[in-house]
Amino acid sequence: EKISIIGVPMDLGQLRRGVDMGPSAIRYAGVIERLEALNIQIDDLGDIEIGRPARFSEEHTTGLRNLKAVSEGSMKLAEKVDTVITEGSFPLVLGGDHSIAIGTLAGVAKHYKNLGVIWYDAHGDLNTEETSPSGNIHGMPLAVSLGIGDKSLTSIYGEQPKIKPENVVIIGARSLDTGERELIKELGIKVYTMHEVDRLGMTKVMEESIGYLKDRTDGVHLSLDLDGIDPHDAPGVGTPVIGGISYRESHLAMEMLAESNLITSAEFVEVNPILDEKNQTATVAVALMGSLFGEKLL
Ligand code: ARG
Ligand code: MN
Ligand code: MN
Ligand code: MN
Repeated sequence: EKISIIGVPMDLGQLRRGVDMGPSAIRYAGVIERLEALNIQIDDLGDIEIGRPARFSEEHTTGLRNLKAVSEGSMKLAEKVDTVITEGSFPLVLGGDHSIAIGTLAGVAKHYKNLGVIWYDAHGDLNTEETSPSGNIHGMPLAVSLGIGDKSLTSIYGEQPKIKPENVVIIGARSLDTGERELIKELGIKVYTMHEVDRLGMTKVMEESIGYLKDRTDGVHLSLDLDGIDPHDAPGVGTPVIGGISYRESHLAMEMLAESNLITSAEFVEVNPILDEKNQTATVAVALMGSLFGEKLL
């Protein structure tokens, strides 16, 4: 078993600077040591190079903020992820804001006919230029991967949609914009909001999610936005929403995914060390990766 780590220092999908330092923060929190202790071979491929548009450039202020730099970065990431899978390794992508999922999923999708996605997030990230309240591309990657949105994003690394709506499970949602709610209903996307997490408990949510995806997919990508976790436990994120999934519930979720052997690629995004408290959020990310890759106390 081999994992290839790909850092993506991307902060142009939103407005809070500092999330580009997420990969460094996660490495500093000991990701390599933690996973090597599980007897997994780790290959750190370093960071993808992200172009920096000049401040106050025209690009920065258009409807899809920083479209060019985000799509160029996504393209490079897709290529890298594709190569890693071709070489038989597991891609573990470190963000960076959630816009990077556009590239990750485009690269992963080359290898699966029915790719499943677990979107662990406070948000749906199902906006388009038309429905977005912010113009921030990190609020759009799930829509883009479904083939919905600006052509320059949906056609990255292949024209066709990268995933199907029936292969997506969103977990932890508690902030959805009007257009996102409509899209969820229209496409029938499976969503476990915080209401369901509270009501059913994380055990049932994961049992159902795993069972649902196991039947219909040939690979499952985990896209974990640290803001899915309650800001009390993971404060270093740009768009925190109170009332989130706890640290303990998240560990349970990762442990159940480890037991299921379902996950074939993963990314951990939105870690912003500038907004964090003593690298707590990167530390949480690394602890969750430990569980995802099979760490056990006894
Ligand atoms: N829904 C809001 C927007 O589209 C917030 C998105 C937050 N996304 C994220 N990946 N943290 O602007
Ligand atoms: Mn989010
Ligand atoms: Mn997100
Ligand atoms: Mn506490």
